[in-house]
Amino acid sequence: MKRIAVLTSGGDAPGMNAAIRAVVRAGIASGLEVWGVRRGFAGLVAGSFVPLGARDVGGIIQRGGTILGSARCEDFKKEATRLEAVRALNQNDIDALVVIGGNGSQSGSYALSEMGVKVVGVASTIDNDLYGSDITIGVDTALNIALEAIDRLKVTASSHQRAFLVEVMGRKCGYLALMAGIAGGAEAVVIPEVETDPEVIAEEIRLAYQRGKPHAIIVVAEGAEYNAAALERYFEKHRERLGFDLRVTTLGHVQRGGEPSAADRILATRLGAAAVEQLLEGNFGVLVGWIKGDIATTPLKDVVSKTKPLDLSLLKLANVLAK
Ligand code: F6P
Repeated sequence: MKRIAVLTSGGDAPGMNAAIRAVVRAGIASGLEVWGVRRGFAGLVAGSFVPLGARDVGGIIQRGGTILGSARCEDFKKEATRLEAVRALNQNDIDALVVIGGNGSQSGSYALSEMGVKVVGVASTIDNDLYGSDITIGVDTALNIALEAIDRLKVTASSHQRAFLVEVMGRKCGYLALMAGIAGGAEAVVIPEVETDPEVIAEEIRLAYQRGKPHAIIVVAEGAEYNAAALERYFEKHRERLGFDLRVTTLGHVQRGGEPSAADRILATRLGAAAVEQLLEGNFGVLVGWIKGDIATTPLKDVVSKTKPLDLSLLKLANVLAK
């Protein structure tokens, strides 16, 4: 193995740059030539490669986003498009590829590995919904951003005796909402994994008011059946019953920006370096992730076919502590 390439794909996650830096420098330290691919799989198909030296990845460990750019490439689901990518890799004498990304991206990695490309994935998504890694690059930072927002909202909520619906990202996974709810001391948490009766949430808000709480924070996962907009519509009809005045804040992409936390920089660095090790050992078609406090590899086949369960006992704990 002489020349490897690295790309970032799907939604960007704080820490991706630290992972790129680790792939480049660990690769160079092992005598490899490392190239970057611009704009994820879209750039791979277009043959958009750039050589990366140790200095090219200087000063990026603390930067959010990805210096390589990222994309959601729907076309990559088509075999003809992937064949273009394989051709581009061959034309540029790339022996192996590191794909830093989440679920959709690792589906692309798996499809490429099935076509004979030597691929290793690196677990990166703020959603923490990827099988094969207890925690993924970007989660810690996104969670802390959501938490800071919740802390701030609680201050203004208390001044005005208001309830806030705070919607956080996570696609179909409630991890970010649940953890932000626990860490932020929310009065209620709404996640996609558990069916929600809006009437129950309304009652919890009313009881919080009756207990004399100065605020009520309801953390809502964007993927829940009753997201913030749906709950707001429902509560509109029952406003006087809630006790509190109601406001809605959707955190959205704010959670993906910003500088990566120390935990994300370290995780990304370790996973990036481990991905190079796997390539050198000839262990292809796997995801490099973090399981039970250590680096672990999982076949991409499992990563794309299995789902990571959410520990729902934590929702019960959040409800108990909300009283
Ligand atoms: O997968 C990461 C994520 O931020 C999800 O939480 C969110 O649903 C989605 O990406 C948003 O995608 P986009 O950036 O393409 O709007």
